[in-house]
Amino acid sequence: MRFGVLGTGRITRRLVADLQSTPGVSVTVIGSRDASRAAWSGGEYGIAKAVAGYDRVLADPDVDAVYIALPPALHARWCLEAAAAGKHVLCEKPLAMDYAEAVTIDRACRAAAVRWLDATGWLHHERTRQMQTWLGDGKLGKLRHVSAAISFFEPFQHDEHRLVAGLGGGCLLDLGWYAAGCAIAAAGQPRRAFASTLKRDGVAIRTSGLIWFDDDVTATVNCGYDVATRKWCEWAADQAAVVCDDFTRPWRDRPPRVWIHNRAGEVESHQFAGSQERNMIGKLCSSDSLASLQSQALRTQATLDAMLRSSDSGQVESVTCE
Ligand SMILES: NC(=O)c1ccc[n+]([C@@H]2O[C@H](COP(=O)([O-])OP(=O)(O)OC[C@H]3O[C@@H](n4cnc5c(N)ncnc54)[C@H](OP(=O)(O)O)[C@@H]3O)[C@@H](O)[C@H]2O)c1
Repeated sequence: MRFGVLGTGRITRRLVADLQSTPGVSVTVIGSRDASRAAWSGGEYGIAKAVAGYDRVLADPDVDAVYIALPPALHARWCLEAAAAGKHVLCEKPLAMDYAEAVTIDRACRAAAVRWLDATGWLHHERTRQMQTWLGDGKLGKLRHVSAAISFFEPFQHDEHRLVAGLGGGCLLDLGWYAAGCAIAAAGQPRRAFASTLKRDGVAIRTSGLIWFDDDVTATVNCGYDVATRKWCEWAADQAAVVCDDFTRPWRDRPPRVWIHNRAGEVESHQFAGSQERNMIGKLCSSDSLASLQSQALRTQATLDAMLRSSDSGQVESVTCE
């Protein structure tokens, strides 16, 4: 699969290397709004073609799929244009600004018979699959509650899109995507949500939320830009809880790990290997069904909508998802 890349930002460097190191995948073109940035990035990352304008990436006959690494407000537009150009789509998280946009992306890709995934790497880690297996096979007992907390202290660059509401800024879309997604990956379809958000200049700086699922399963989620780095979760069941302190991406230079704490206070440690990003890219390029991952993305988007509405209304809001 030959990828074209839209955007030259912070995450691009890392994901381009993951694309280039995935068997059967190459990166043929990179596009920027700016010709000199495109040329610099092409040289830096070893990509043969660098073009000014994302439309030129989509028009390139040497591109089968695109990686969209733009601010959230631009995701829907470029996913739709990619689908119209017959290119498969790997789009950065959050997939879209809201659930309605996310559904539009899903429908357009289906109509064009192109595959799509949001670039939420952790869902593809062997560790995540094992955590879901433990839940499914009863090792932990019956799931009762999920906790997840994601924060990065002021992760801002010059002209940071995370601080611009119109570009999809704010910690809820950016980091709440992981926290709510973590609860959904464990508990399935969310039903209702409540959230409280601290905003600065119209942008979410810290959000805390409560999500309700079927069978009395609940989740508490927290995300923020004014708290030290955290990326932990706990899936608490009635016999044991699995705890992970870096579920979104393993800490650098440490093996991916989780702990199971049982009712007697005994602890099991487990370690894992492998690249979640290469697994994700391989999944998009395979012929495996993407339905459950796409459903996870749509549910996450609908939950963030409900949390946003709740932050404004002060009420518990329904999660509305097809
Ligand atoms: N999966 C992950 O672990 C992860 C980590 C970080 C970020 N992300 C996601 O990836 C996306 C990009 O984040 P990032 O941190 O890489 O952002 P970034 O460093 O600001 O890069 C975004 C790129 O988008 C392009 N762009 C087009 N219109 C823009 C505008 N109006 N303002 C700013 N940039 C614009 C720019 O490239 P050109 O001007 O060269 O075209 C820019 O370099 C976001 O959705 C973010 O949530 C994911």
